[in-house]
Amino acid sequence: MSRLPDTQESVSRATEPSTRTPFLKLAQVVTLYYRSSGYENVFTPQLFLKRRAELCTVTNVRKWEFTSTDGRSITVREAFPEDAQNMHTGFSDVVREGKWLPTYRPNGTISDWVSWIHRAKRSREILLVGEVDMRYAGHLSIQPEEWDASRHVGRLGVIVVQPLRGIGVGRALLQVAEMVAAEKGYEKIVLSTFSNNCIARHLYESVGYRMVGVREKHFVMGGNYIDEILYEKLLEPF
Ligand SMILES: CC(C)(COP(=O)(O)OP(=O)(O)OC[C@H]1O[C@@H](n2cnc3c(N)ncnc32)[C@H](O)[C@@H]1OP(=O)(O)O)[C@@H](O)C(=O)NCCC(=O)NCCS
Repeated sequence: MSRLPDTQESVSRATEPSTRTPFLKLAQVVTLYYRSSGYENVFTPQLFLKRRAELCTVTNVRKWEFTSTDGRSITVREAFPEDAQNMHTGFSDVVREGKWLPTYRPNGTISDWVSWIHRAKRSREILLVGEVDMRYAGHLSIQPEEWDASRHVGRLGVIVVQPLRGIGVGRALLQVAEMVAAEKGYEKIVLSTFSNNCIARHLYESVGYRMVGVREKHFVMGGNYIDEILYEKLLEPF
């Protein structure tokens, strides 16, 4: 039985000598750019080379383009395993803000995120990444409800990194999520937020989510009780 070539061998063959040096230079520039933005070890030249052939073979990669309110390009696309580090860092940073999510400390590892991304590709889970000018800006997830009888309902979560909030990334992610969710057979999306999360509440209501309930004193954040506001939206059939 012949041995499958390891990834590095495969990539060496897939990368023509004439393109290898410029490509490495580009990868180094991108690495510096990402590191200067506070995201360590996201793209190394080696990782770029290792994953390039793999990414190029991905067919039907869908992405959606938007323009931010300050004129930058927003891209929404399905998450790749290569996004795991940024998603982990982005989520952990939001948890550390201590204001928006009902958890006190970051949990999970990067490999948990990699597994989640792989699982989403094989299941009805949805994981979307938002980028501003090709830089990770946030992500959105939809997971099916656990009960057999409510598999048509998806639970949505979304975060945007602090420096890139308020320019339309969240809105773009929500728009794409609805479309992809309808394609995957969801008929309704549910979510919840803290009562004092004015930005999230404004955004959800402005794209048609209906407030359907309040769970009083449902969370304790920084020693204070916070109500949970429940929202839902029925989707147009796909
Ligand atoms: C909530 C969140 C995902 C929204 O993403 P975003 O990219 O900032 O959202 P957008 O820029 O698309 O839209 C924000 C809207 O809120 C409005 N807004 C900004 N500040 C506001 C405020 N203090 N009160 C009310 N609305 C406000 C903006 O004007 C914009 O509305 P508009 O498009 O009608 O002008 C993002 O702010 C975030 O990640 N927050 C921290 C984590 C979090 O709260 N996640 C959701 C938990 S349920």
